[in-house]
Amino acid sequence: MKKLIAGNWKMNGLASSLAEIEALKGITGEAACDIVVCPPLTLVEKAAERVGGSRIAIGAQDCHAQPSGAYTGDVSAEMLAEIGARFVILGHSERRSAYRETDAAVAAKAIAVHQAGLTSIICVGETRAERDEGRAIEVVCAQLEASIPNTATSSNTVIAYEPVWAIGTGLVPTLEQIEEMHSSIRQALEKRLGENGLGVRILYGGSVKASNAKAIFGVSNVDGALVGGASLKASEFAGIITAAA
Ligand code: 13P
Repeated sequence: MKKLIAGNWKMNGLASSLAEIEALKGITGEAACDIVVCPPLTLVEKAAERVGGSRIAIGAQDCHAQPSGAYTGDVSAEMLAEIGARFVILGHSERRSAYRETDAAVAAKAIAVHQAGLTSIICVGETRAERDEGRAIEVVCAQLEASIPNTATSSNTVIAYEPVWAIGTGLVPTLEQIEEMHSSIRQALEKRLGENGLGVRILYGGSVKASNAKAIFGVSNVDGALVGGASLKASEFAGIITAAA
């Protein structure tokens, strides 16, 4: 399976940062994996223009479940498609915790993303307490089951496993823990989506850097990465892309 390297810029970046996305064009290993950068909404259209004609795709970090309506401040999947987004991150732990996004809300948004012809990157992950209680796999598989809609296929859905305690902390699970979780996610995907479940890419996310990426990419059922902080600078993100290639 071709690896997908996705950058989540979160609420970072002004127009002056677009050069970091443009600098990814033509870097070593670019052709060997798929690359998507998800800048803040304000930069999606400009970023899509900058990478036009290249293999780099642009994504957004959230959307509303409805195509239009009285939802002040929200943006629909169709609107994102119109400005050049091809992916939408959904159910990131920061949104699940800060905005109380439920699995059902994530699934409804994913349907909207699929109907707009875009690919959803659905995030799941356990907290430190849940892992310490020995419930990590149970929690993640339950999230997965309830966050994936019936419209999901291997071409419109990507899963990102991001342990909450590994995000922005410099902490990373052991390779054994990553392997155990990704193989459980693969089984759950196959059970839910049949043949399609075998083709869904499962990304690892949480403190991925150029220095640890190669080892993580060597783990079975790790089909790429969702990268936060290390995706902001082209030089560091390029190191992760090269590690995947
Ligand atoms: P960091 O790579 O900064 O730990 O963030 C991971 C993340 O939340 C990506 O969505």
